[in-house]
Amino acid sequence: MNIKINPLLLQCVLLFFCVPSHSSSFKTDTITSTLTIKDSDTIESLGRVFRFGFFTPKNTKNRYLGIFYSVSEETVIWVANRDKPLSDSSGTVIIAKDGNLVLINGRNQTLWSTNVTTAFSRNTSAQIQDTGNLVLWDISTSTLLWQSFLQPCDVFLPKLNLIDNIYTGKKVVLSSWRNGSDPEVGSFTVGLKALKIPQIFTWKNESPYWRSGPWNGQILIGVQDMYSPYNDGFTVKNDNLGNFYFTAPEGNLPMRFSVNSTGSLTQTLWNEKRRDWDISFSAPKTECDIYNTCGNFATCNSKDSPICSCLRGFEPRVIEEWGVGNWRSGCVRRKQLKCEQRNSSSGHGDGFLRLQFMKVPDFAEQFQGRRLDECRSRCSSNCSCIAYAHDPYIGCMFWRENLIDVQRLDGVGVDLYIRLKKSELDDPEDKKVFIIIPVIIGFATISLIIFIAWCWMVKTKGEKTKDRKVLETLSSDSTAIVLKDEIEKVNIEELSLFSFETLANATNHFSDYNFIGRGGFGPVYKGNLPNGKEIAVKRLSSASLQGNEEFMNEVVVISKLQHRNLVRLLGCCVERDENMLIYEYMPNKSLDGCLFDRTHTSEKILDWKTRFSIIEGIGRGLLYLHRDSRLKIIHRDLKPSNVLLDEDWNPKISDFGMARIFGSNEDYGNTARVVGTYGYMAPEYAMEGKFSEKSDVFSFGVMMLEILSRKKNTHYYNQELSLGLLGCAWKLWSEENCLAFVDQMIASSNIEEDISRCVHIALLCVQEFSDDRPAIQIVLSMLSREILDLPMAEQPLFAEKWNRSHFGMTQPTTQVGYSINDLTLTVLDGR
Ligand SMILES: *[C@@H]1O[C@H](CO)[C@@H](O)[C@H](O)[C@H]1NC(C)=O
Ligand SMILES: *[C@@H]1O[C@H](CO)[C@@H](O)[C@H](O)[C@H]1NC(C)=O
Ligand SMILES: *[C@@H]1O[C@H](CO)[C@@H](O)[C@H](O)[C@H]1NC(C)=O
Ligand SMILES: *[C@@H]1O[C@H](CO)[C@@H](O)[C@H](O)[C@H]1NC(C)=O
Ligand SMILES: *[C@@H]1O[C@H](CO)[C@@H](O)[C@H](O)[C@H]1NC(C)=O
Ligand SMILES: *[C@@H]1O[C@H](CO)[C@@H](O)[C@H](O)[C@H]1NC(C)=O
Ligand SMILES: *[C@@H]1O[C@H](CO)[C@@H](O)[C@H](O)[C@H]1NC(C)=O
Repeated sequence: MNIKINPLLLQCVLLFFCVPSHSSSFKTDTITSTLTIKDSDTIESLGRVFRFGFFTPKNTKNRYLGIFYSVSEETVIWVANRDKPLSDSSGTVIIAKDGNLVLINGRNQTLWSTNVTTAFSRNTSAQIQDTGNLVLWDISTSTLLWQSFLQPCDVFLPKLNLIDNIYTGKKVVLSSWRNGSDPEVGSFTVGLKALKIPQIFTWKNESPYWRSGPWNGQILIGVQDMYSPYNDGFTVKNDNLGNFYFTAPEGNLPMRFSVNSTGSLTQTLWNEKRRDWDISFSAPKTECDIYNTCGNFATCNSKDSPICSCLRGFEPRVIEEWGVGNWRSGCVRRKQLKCEQRNSSSGHGDGFLRLQFMKVPDFAEQFQGRRLDECRSRCSSNCSCIAYAHDPYIGCMFWRENLIDVQRLDGVGVDLYIRLKKSELDDPEDKKVFIIIPVIIGFATISLIIFIAWCWMVKTKGEKTKDRKVLETLSSDSTAIVLKDEIEKVNIEELSLFSFETLANATNHFSDYNFIGRGGFGPVYKGNLPNGKEIAVKRLSSASLQGNEEFMNEVVVISKLQHRNLVRLLGCCVERDENMLIYEYMPNKSLDGCLFDRTHTSEKILDWKTRFSIIEGIGRGLLYLHRDSRLKIIHRDLKPSNVLLDEDWNPKISDFGMARIFGSNEDYGNTARVVGTYGYMAPEYAMEGKFSEKSDVFSFGVMMLEILSRKKNTHYYNQELSLGLLGCAWKLWSEENCLAFVDQMIASSNIEEDISRCVHIALLCVQEFSDDRPAIQIVLSMLSREILDLPMAEQPLFAEKWNRSHFGMTQPTTQVGYSINDLTLTVLDGR
């Protein structure tokens, strides 16, 4: 055999003699045509995360070439010669003449090759990277010829994509080993199925074995463990060739998903202390998780015995089989639907049964419509729809023909509505539910009260007198009664508790380096959880009395909400006299910074399309608050600094410290304690303390004008032009000169009509009388041009006229200017 001596090899050989070790690692991450590796050698990635070399699985003598962790050599993530083991230690890895990376045995037979077809010879090198990817480069052109991430084995890592092409069906999937000692392709594969609504599947010999439920843009909604902030950061992205990519979040600690030879998909995290792997997730967990255990039209609940039962209105297809625990044949409908009867084209004799906390059936289709009532009316008017469900991110889902793989989850999941004949709906089975539900509610309420009492006790240590003041403030506010009721109903179980230590570690002990801004009632820090998820931690300043109440308010309000245009609360922390709220982290910070921070203008200038979509996004978030959530919520402090932007510039409303929840039949509230921010408050609110949906619409209108003009409402205050932003907008708009009003970066005559329409809509929102202002859903219809004709806008009341007379006493004129808008004013009226 031709051994090429080179210094590295020599070094290695020397090392080999000195250290009694079985393997030696080259100080390189690259195999070139002059460096070959033999059975005892490995190469290691630059950051010493992964090694590439030979190994022997347990219970066998065969040698395989693969990639494994440096910290845990027995944890193999990839195998080259899966089906052609070496029986001795004669294996050598070389770059062949044609440029391929090749594994040969002692008899010069090729056991494995990267198999890049080339007509000519290339100068190539193979590199093991810190991500766990083995790549083959063409040195002369620096092009990537081959990578192991496109031929994965049984392990899924961050940066590895599970791919599915919806046109060609070509997939990148994981495949299990035969058994613990044989890496040959086994029975199980794991991959993405992107068609319609993306899902993750485990297949056993090509037929479904486990299913994750639909991807809703944030989580996989059929996986119990996904409803937790720790399991966050997965993405599904697609390109315009029909490829869909599923990726896992990247963390500071090694994390991997793997499928073993018995079809179990597990997520494991490296535990540095134990120097071993912790299992953080595995599926399937119970028999219920296995695909369609109970057959069609049946539901599985692992806590019941037997675990399978037919859905209400359905009966076993073969009763004898069902009786002995053979459920596969499933259930059939007991009473024909009105829909199915001759002559009937509409299902008016049918109704829908609501099933809570469900993993939705397979083969979900999506139809137009975002709101639950839209889903219902569409489904009920079309007989081929036999069930529907609603998820705030997906919108409407519906099913035809069969309901397959239905499962009840534990307190998470969505509501599934199935079509039944009306007479089936008034079944006596109802009574059972009437007993169970109050018991559950009772239990939940008791746990909540205990939690809140505990929260309260932690906070009240030594602060008794302060608390009395809080309570007095609360009771002087008429809406506080509604709020107090809501506190008792808040579902803390959905909210994770973080320990102080976790947060301190995540934020480098709240270092200045991690400081990202100041929110409503305290500083905000950026943090990194051990699983790599980025969070924002809002820390209540312990001196702040007002913050105490707002903390509870924010927890109550935001824990009930879920919408793509609202910032998501991940959890809270109440420990050591500290109150902290944990949110998802927004890389693009606040709208305020993008619009008004003139020091970084070059990168943050937003084009017209982005600005318009930000306006629409905020509007949709507001619509959800006002109309679509189960509660009616008035935000009361909408302003650019309370709108955060994610990496794709989607706006998310935040800071619910001032928000008020209304009973469903209340239309406006009255408060003695006017809170909000100068410049954004509607006149009736600032002057009389009256707030309603329309006062939020006012703030929204001001914000629209600010987004369009990139000027703060208050900046006009010190200028000669005493019209204010609103007055100025009105004047230029009525002179049909909107291009002079808007930011010169977007002022283009091509879009003059769009801009002028946008200013017009904003002016409708900031009219003096709340009744004149359109409700937010009308505003959205106007923006989307569902409503074409706009009413005339009344001239707005010039903001500073009343602000000056009202706040003149509390705000010294010298302070008025740049800073005032960043503060949230609280004015206690002497009522
Ligand atoms: C393998 O090939 C090399 C050169 O390519 C040659 O020197 C060596 O003798 C061969 N070994 C065997 C066992 O054929
Ligand atoms: C390489 O490609 C050839 C022809 O396409 C195929 O027969 C062979 O199995 C491949 N080898 C490997 C190791 O993939
Ligand atoms: C291949 O590329 C390396 C690095 O650029 C160079 O040192 C070597 O001479 C090249 N070999 C051939 C055969 O071109
Ligand atoms: C693994 O599978 C191979 C064949 O597929 C078999 O020969 C071997 O005995 C199995 N090993 C174990 C530990 O089951
Ligand atoms: C596969 O993983 C599951 C869950 O971790 C475990 O119970 C099972 O024993 C594993 N199977 C094998 C063959 O290791
Ligand atoms: C309903 O069906 C009957 C016969 O089955 C037919 O005579 C009648 O015209 C149908 N009515 C409608 C409204 O289609
Ligand atoms: C009902 O829905 C199906 C599936 O979307 C569609 O193909 C069909 O045209 C609809 N029928 C009616 C009457 O709308």
